[in-house]
Amino acid sequence: MILKLLRNALVGVTAMIGLQAMAQDFPSRPITMVMPYAPGGPGDAITRLFAGAMQKQLGQQIVVDNTAGASGSIGTAKVARAKADGYTLLMIHVSHATNTAMYKNLPYHPVDDFEPIGRATIGPMLIVARNDFPAKDLKEWLAYVKANAPKISLAHAGVGSASHLCALMMMNALNVKFNEIPYKGTGPALTDLMGGQVDLMCDQTSGTVPSVKAEKIKAYAAIGKTRLGGLPDLPAIAEAGVQGLDITISFGLYAPKGTPKAVMEPLTAALQKSVADPEVRQRLEAMGITAVSPEMARPEALRAHLKYEMDSLNNLLLKAGVKAN
Ligand code: MLT
Repeated sequence: MILKLLRNALVGVTAMIGLQAMAQDFPSRPITMVMPYAPGGPGDAITRLFAGAMQKQLGQQIVVDNTAGASGSIGTAKVARAKADGYTLLMIHVSHATNTAMYKNLPYHPVDDFEPIGRATIGPMLIVARNDFPAKDLKEWLAYVKANAPKISLAHAGVGSASHLCALMMMNALNVKFNEIPYKGTGPALTDLMGGQVDLMCDQTSGTVPSVKAEKIKAYAAIGKTRLGGLPDLPAIAEAGVQGLDITISFGLYAPKGTPKAVMEPLTAALQKSVADPEVRQRLEAMGITAVSPEMARPEALRAHLKYEMDSLNNLLLKAGVKAN
């Protein structure tokens, strides 16, 4: 028994020494950044932008891996299981917090199994519909959806995703129930919205605002109290007197739990430099998204934001009685 304990302790110490030694010359090979939603969505666009910016800072290639499904939990589990050496990272948003309330058998814990590197972005959301949706403005839209909700199909990126949370808040605020159609990301959902296969979506701005401007879909309102910079004529939903429908989406970067300090530090430094990079800021701004300040691109800020999301949103989901399994 004592021999077994000693052997296990020795294996643990040897593994730790091995990780520390490897950490000294980090990064010495390509890094994988997992985006747990499908290509073509806001998460994909943000991850690719930061992978490019951070690879310049770190001097090593960063490869984006879209492991989508189950509202980000499949890709997230992949990172939780990865070696804690800094070569497998996770870019994720609010579903890191909400999936704990949504999935009974989640194979990871969002706090216990990850090291936060820092926050990356904050972005607004908006209500969009297929181009021939039968309402010409927000006033008509409100009247139409209140009268026809069960017949209206609403696309989202899976139970616990940002678009699902917004949909839930919207249904609560309007006291209606749409016919929900889940996708593996808003990339494929938006494609179907443009094709007219689904009616409605509440999505982030990266793909939707350009599609509204190109007249491929229609927009009815910005979520919350503030109008969008990219669509200044679009009313904010609060202007129509709708209360309790306000959410912004923040992406952050994580490494697996136990990643050595000597690896975490250069990763945080690279993220901080990337959020301050004028080209990154300008490209995000073009998507209607804001890069956080370098002070927010730090572990403490991401840890605090995750706690805030877990405390505030999981209650909302529990109250709404939504469960994925
Ligand atoms: C995506 O990148 O597909 C989204 O962030 C999904 C969502 O949460 O709505």
